Amino acid sequence: MKKIAICGKGGVGKSFLTYVLTNAFLDQGFKVIVVDGDESNFSLHKYFGFPSAPQPLVDFLGGKPALKEVLRKSFQSNTEPTLEEVNPFNQKTFKLSDFPEEYVLKKGNMALVSIGKIRKSLEGCACPYGFLTKMFLEKIALEEGEILLLDTEAGVEHFGRGIEKEVDAVIVVAEPYLDSIEVAKRAYNLAKELSKRTFFVLNKAPNELREKVLELCKANGLEVDAVFPYSSKVYEASILGKFGLVDEVMVPAKELASRILLPT
Ligand SMILES: Nc1ncnc2c1ncn2[C@@H]1O[C@H](COP(=O)(O)OP(=O)(O)OP(=O)(O)O)[C@@H](O)[C@H]1O
Ligand SMILES: [Mg+2]
Repeated sequence: MKKIAICGKGGVGKSFLTYVLTNAFLDQGFKVIVVDGDESNFSLHKYFGFPSAPQPLVDFLGGKPALKEVLRKSFQSNTEPTLEEVNPFNQKTFKLSDFPEEYVLKKGNMALVSIGKIRKSLEGCACPYGFLTKMFLEKIALEEGEILLLDTEAGVEHFGRGIEKEVDAVIVVAEPYLDSIEVAKRAYNLAKELSKRTFFVLNKAPNELREKVLELCKANGLEVDAVFPYSSKVYEASILGKFGLVDEVMVPAKELASRILLPT
């Protein structure tokens, strides 16, 4: 299980789960590459303790307008997009070390890269970022002992773009309420449709309603792989742009990491 996408409805805890799972895998001796594939949120680097975000990979390809132009030409001529410059994206595969250091933030055995962010009104849709995310996942060659975690944007659009095609597993996260569980069910089924190994995580579960919510998950065909409790410590840390690595969430995170690592 090398490349893993984390998805779900807005605010369910995808970034939080990316963070705690990164730490769980690091604890087990893995190297972890975190890919920020969310074009709307700006804070993932802060949770990992970096003072600023990595330069987005879209800049490496000349910025969003340039990439948009490549895609426009490709649609018009019905041919594969061609990137004119010599760069790692033109290679069959690449490694993180093929990029200049401003694109890859490193801390111990983890590295963070970011695809790109929406910054201006009227700048157009996020399609170029979807294309770039897919190409990045397809081309990055992971070494033995490396795991990649992709933090996706809210919702299921990335399934439509084919991003999950490039990963080995999908973790679907939901909060304990109907809309969130229904989005999770859709994502879960979309991942299964692609024959991906699929995990379902119930996050922010309040103890007193746990059984009721687990019943709702079951009724929606969601087999629960991990339950993370609602933690006021985690929430409090997030007010300061941090995620707490408290036992109440690290215990299920480590169990989930071990489960993910089990052979199929
Ligand atoms: N188990 C938990 N207990 C308490 N708070 C939590 C828990 N998990 C996540 N949170 C909090 O919920 C908020 C949203 O979490 P997070 O940003 O990870 O969600 P997300 O799914 O990535 O959101 P988005 O869709 O905007 O990317 C944060 O304040 C986070 O600290
Ligand atoms: Mg997020």
